[in-house]
Amino acid sequence: MGKDTLEVIAVEATQANMMDYEEARRQFDWADVEKRFSWYESGKVNLAHEAIDRHAASELKDKIALHYSDPQRDESYTFEQLRQQSNKAANMLRELGIGKGDRVFIFMPRTPELYFTLLGIIKIGAIAGPLFEAFMETAVRDRLLDSGAVAIVTTPKLVGRVPAAELPELKHIIVYGEESELENGQIHFSTAMDAASDETEIEWVEPEDGLILHYTSGSTGKPKGVYHVHQAMLQHEYTGRVVLDLQPDDIYWCTADPGWVTGTSYGIFAPWLNGATNVIRGGRFSPQDWYETIQRYKVTVWYSAPTAFRMLMGAGDEAVEQYDLSSLRHVLSVGEPLNPEVIRWGYRVYQQRIHDTWWMTETGAQLICNYPRMDVRPGSMGRPLPGIEAAIVDDQGNELPPLRMGNLAIKTPWPSMMRKIWNNPAKYEEYVRIPGWYISGDSAYMDEDGYFWFQGRIDDVINTSGERVGPFEVESKLVEHPAVAEAGVIGKPDPVRGEVIKAFISLREGFTASDELKQEITRFVKEGLSAHAAPREIEFKDKLPKTRSGKIMRRVLKAWELELPTGDLSTMED
Ligand code: PRX
Repeated sequence: MGKDTLEVIAVEATQANMMDYEEARRQFDWADVEKRFSWYESGKVNLAHEAIDRHAASELKDKIALHYSDPQRDESYTFEQLRQQSNKAANMLRELGIGKGDRVFIFMPRTPELYFTLLGIIKIGAIAGPLFEAFMETAVRDRLLDSGAVAIVTTPKLVGRVPAAELPELKHIIVYGEESELENGQIHFSTAMDAASDETEIEWVEPEDGLILHYTSGSTGKPKGVYHVHQAMLQHEYTGRVVLDLQPDDIYWCTADPGWVTGTSYGIFAPWLNGATNVIRGGRFSPQDWYETIQRYKVTVWYSAPTAFRMLMGAGDEAVEQYDLSSLRHVLSVGEPLNPEVIRWGYRVYQQRIHDTWWMTETGAQLICNYPRMDVRPGSMGRPLPGIEAAIVDDQGNELPPLRMGNLAIKTPWPSMMRKIWNNPAKYEEYVRIPGWYISGDSAYMDEDGYFWFQGRIDDVINTSGERVGPFEVESKLVEHPAVAEAGVIGKPDPVRGEVIKAFISLREGFTASDELKQEITRFVKEGLSAHAAPREIEFKDKLPKTRSGKIMRRVLKAWELELPTGDLSTMED
């Protein structure tokens, strides 16, 4: 540990942090969190009811729930208006015969309609499958096929990437856009919404019934459908309260897209379960646009990601000085390691400590955090929340003492833990192979005060700009290109994006390496899979390092790239 990692930015003693961390852990009981929901008394469970309808029936009825804007639109909705719009979406889906347990996908940019639809899906007890708008045809097909989705809500611009002919279970394509842009058999979103009643019967479910499927990447195989249930709301509500520290007057902005888990757990569920005013900004990132958003809405609590903070830092102090950001009172980060340098910069320019939080798609909600009741240690992910036990374990599951690096593990279960991997019990078992523990796939160590420090991934999963990319999915796409014989893909360290994707490629007979070919291959992945999964760098090789059983050794590629020793090569072919 260097000097940086020992530095502490102390917290002032405020009312919120008076309670000692250990004491908070001792007193904590999930049963107390459960009592905060109306279903504790009514026995009627549905996350959308708790997030929206419950508030619409209270003094929060006319409070703004959603401030939405993009360069074309500027709208606000109260809890009551959201209740009505999500009821309409629920009725629109029911009208099509969609019901409990069905998978309904959403493939559209952030607009209010995305949020109405997602809440509507949950209201009828169906399972929402949000897809990031950058996905191209192969990525969309794999996810719809695996989940057996019956319907998708999308836009005229994106619908061309939904290969309906290859998706036998997909019955309904609902398109939000101009009616004239629709093709035969597609359902016009706005017409159906207009026709639908704004009152509906909520489908009451069991706490263990399905809520949402988020597809994410591992190092092998196709993306996996991480399955979450309504019970997760306990942890969304709780972490919204103690980690985001949401108070009645807060204006909260989470910058993540709902195609990723942060954009649902913390862009939808946590804020609305806590009755907070939620800001959604559509359109593209620019430092000016983001600062303008904070200034305009007087954002108080801001949840973003290290890559974004690094880009803002790159835009310089001058950009900050042009705006009034004095409304900010709590800033948080997730998704990748948060550099101490960024925390120090944020402290200087925003007068805010950026609070790192650690969790994963599979964990459903935050687990290890720097939160207002604690001192922030720049470079550390923080400490496990009350109700959560974390440890560093070896491969046999033995707990390791402080300062020893190993597997970051969480004691099972917790309310928002995934309940399965869709269609793939064997993949799920890999996470819980050590009885009593969830093995995260991250390596870390714990210091003597119980703070956890991220060290890296144990597998080959790439984290580029906070987005998780599986090398296998990229390699599979690369080898579909006629020039590519074999491909191995790694994450290469990058000062802004954390990692960028680098592909090593061997060419088929008759193809010659050239810059044009590199560009052509990159475009092929961009157009087939998605822009964020396309390699930023390609290197042609005559041969790729492989095991005797023919598996490409990404570890060796990475060592080449970083000019590190290649380690044990005994399994490598001659
Ligand atoms: O490697 C860890 C990294 O992101 C992975 C989870 O990615 P994903 O499922 O896409 O979820 C991202 C948002 C919840 C983790 O296994 N990661 C996440 N948070 C941090 C992090 N790495 C370092 N520090 C963090 N705070």
